[in-house]
Amino acid sequence: MSTPWSLPLWIAHRGAGKLAPENTLAAFRLGAACGYRAFECDVKLSQDDLPFLLHDDTLERTTNGAGTAGDQPWQALSQLDAGSWHGRIHAGEPMPTLAAIARYVQRNGFALNIEIKPTPGLELHTGEVVGRAVRDLWSGVTPLPLFSSFRPEALQGARDTAPDVPRALLLDTLWDGWFDIARALGCVAVVTNHNVMDAAVMSQLHGAGLRALCYTVNLPQDARRLVALGIDGIITDAVDRFSAHDSSVID
Ligand code: G3P
Ligand code: MG
Repeated sequence: MSTPWSLPLWIAHRGAGKLAPENTLAAFRLGAACGYRAFECDVKLSQDDLPFLLHDDTLERTTNGAGTAGDQPWQALSQLDAGSWHGRIHAGEPMPTLAAIARYVQRNGFALNIEIKPTPGLELHTGEVVGRAVRDLWSGVTPLPLFSSFRPEALQGARDTAPDVPRALLLDTLWDGWFDIARALGCVAVVTNHNVMDAAVMSQLHGAGLRALCYTVNLPQDARRLVALGIDGIITDAVDRFSAHDSSVID
């Protein structure tokens, strides 16, 4: 495989999975304290087009706000508490901007997988804006992040504005045409739900020079199966269970 590649085997999901409030700087810090050097996070746009970290379309589950996050300007979103839902020690933790996360990972030399998670209906636009932001934030900086998305339109948008930043198609199922779409988008990798990864998919990807990654792998038997298949990346919540330095998956 000849494409540039910056991600190690172990990647912390949403910063540090479930051990800290997901997609916050506190989560990244906890993941790093557990030895992780690569992180996945979810990025969407505020109403005024600022890229920030949040998984859901709406604010209720992980903040003290309400409604569709993408309907609110960053000034309002930046005041929300995205930590108290998880525990009192995280009270007041804000949702980070992508720029803040860029500073953190770059200063530490960490690798980043930016999952583009558009507010529904804004797929192409979100990809374009996040692509532009990453192009500027990582100008002259390595390693570049890896973009991923379940939404091909979002990857197309990112390709239009940041063609040099590598892309991966995310798959919850192996829907008809996934492989051709990944190729047409110039993807360097495919990230699947671990339940659909098998030897045939792995061989198809590796045969085409694409990396194969899986999410969200939290059980040792699942990780062992994937390592035996030759997986290139494992996105996990279990940053306290899996050593980021070990591919033998000791339990
Ligand atoms: O990017 C891998 C994984 O994060 C995809 O699922 O719902 O956790 O964003 P989700
Ligand atoms: Mg994600």
